[in-house]
Amino acid sequence: MTEPKLPASPENQSAWSGRFSEPVSDLVKRYTASVFFDRRMWRQDVRGSLAHARMLARKNIIDESDLAAIEQGMATITREIEAGEFIWNLDDEDVHLNIEKRLTALVGDAGKRLHTGRSRNDQVATDIRLWLRDTIDEIDGQLRNLQKALLDTAESHTDTPLPGFTHLQVAQPVTFGHHLLAYFEMLRRDRERFGDCRRRVNRLPLGAAALAGTTFPIDRESVARDLGFEELCENSLDAVSDRDFAIEFCSAAALVMTHISRFSEELILWMSPRVGFIDLADRFCTGSSIMPQKKNPDVPELARGKTGRVFGHLVGLLTLMKGQPLAYNKDNQEDKEPLFDTADTLIDTLRIFADLVPGIRVKPEAMAAALRQGYATATDLADYLVKKGLPFRDAHEAVARAVRSCEERGCELSELSLDELRSFSPLVGDDVFEVLTVAGSLAARDHIGGTSPAQVRAAIERSRTRL
Ligand code: ARG
Repeated sequence: MTEPKLPASPENQSAWSGRFSEPVSDLVKRYTASVFFDRRMWRQDVRGSLAHARMLARKNIIDESDLAAIEQGMATITREIEAGEFIWNLDDEDVHLNIEKRLTALVGDAGKRLHTGRSRNDQVATDIRLWLRDTIDEIDGQLRNLQKALLDTAESHTDTPLPGFTHLQVAQPVTFGHHLLAYFEMLRRDRERFGDCRRRVNRLPLGAAALAGTTFPIDRESVARDLGFEELCENSLDAVSDRDFAIEFCSAAALVMTHISRFSEELILWMSPRVGFIDLADRFCTGSSIMPQKKNPDVPELARGKTGRVFGHLVGLLTLMKGQPLAYNKDNQEDKEPLFDTADTLIDTLRIFADLVPGIRVKPEAMAAALRQGYATATDLADYLVKKGLPFRDAHEAVARAVRSCEERGCELSELSLDELRSFSPLVGDDVFEVLTVAGSLAARDHIGGTSPAQVRAAIERSRTRL
């Protein structure tokens, strides 16, 4: 967070100065203020205030002339903020009071009437929900862009064999395209999670006022319609105090980061000269100030690191909430920085990865070499024997002996002669060699969810319709 450089002028009176006999110290003012960070919700604050004012006018709680003045004042404020001319004032604590104060300076009493039947407690809850709704929509778009990058790259590699690993040991061949589609699926669930979270974000707290509702004859449904909320928060105490929707958001964000962190870990590993499966475009890497030979995968490493930061925000918000009695407590002001930082970190990460993925340069020779060293088609040989009538456990045993013998001689399964293979099981015929090839192994996994090139192509096609 940048240090606030906001004027604190002594002639400024706080909104509650009538109740107090001495002003707060500058330190306390700075400690309690949130305007340095919550002013980024100014658009939502103006939007929420206008909807509230329109409802007040419809219900004859304020005059049409007041509404007109408020609308005109808010238009001026919008222009001022957009032009960078608005003077944010530390004395006015937060975004809400800053805007209200400026409104009153611009239009007089009408500005003072805006807060009728409302409290900052329901106002801030409304602003966060509006902000989060916009942010979720933005994140959904970024997730989609990354999914598209994964599909496009997968499409170029539906036939490129990659060792699939379990326990970080070569297990069976997969295609590089199939591997990328695994991340596509993770992101698909991530988008579902955000969509689900959005439904609970999209409920209107306004009308709860400070905590108990208001004595004015308000019409909450019309405000909800005006602001695009799908439902009302049904209990005033709950409406102003719970931030579970923000926690859900951070939880969904933490899962996206988890997925990106796993992918990052793989990219880092694959790019290590020891493995050498891929190279990343230079613009995502840096060199070393001392070791001239280095090209480091900084972006994936940072994404892996920033995942910890997002987890921290999730735990921070959970902890913020757990000790609070009903209803609103000032603790809740601490919800914003973690929330904003979570969104910023996630959005930046998604944008960078959507650009990084198409820049992955695949090195098929290194992948093929690793496959050869790892007896990746051993399961295929066992399956072959099963199809010839051997029970799977016996087939497993026969192939294990064959692998051991290859290990001793330093050769691959496909390099054994027919007679040598028959010494492990007489069921081996001369059709065995095609199952020992990587291409044969891939093609044989020919069902939905399998890694055969034909299935990967079909999966890409299905996935495109889900974008
Ligand atoms: N700045 C406050 C927040 O972020 C707004 C609500 C303040 N309400 C209050 N009663 N102090 O939560």
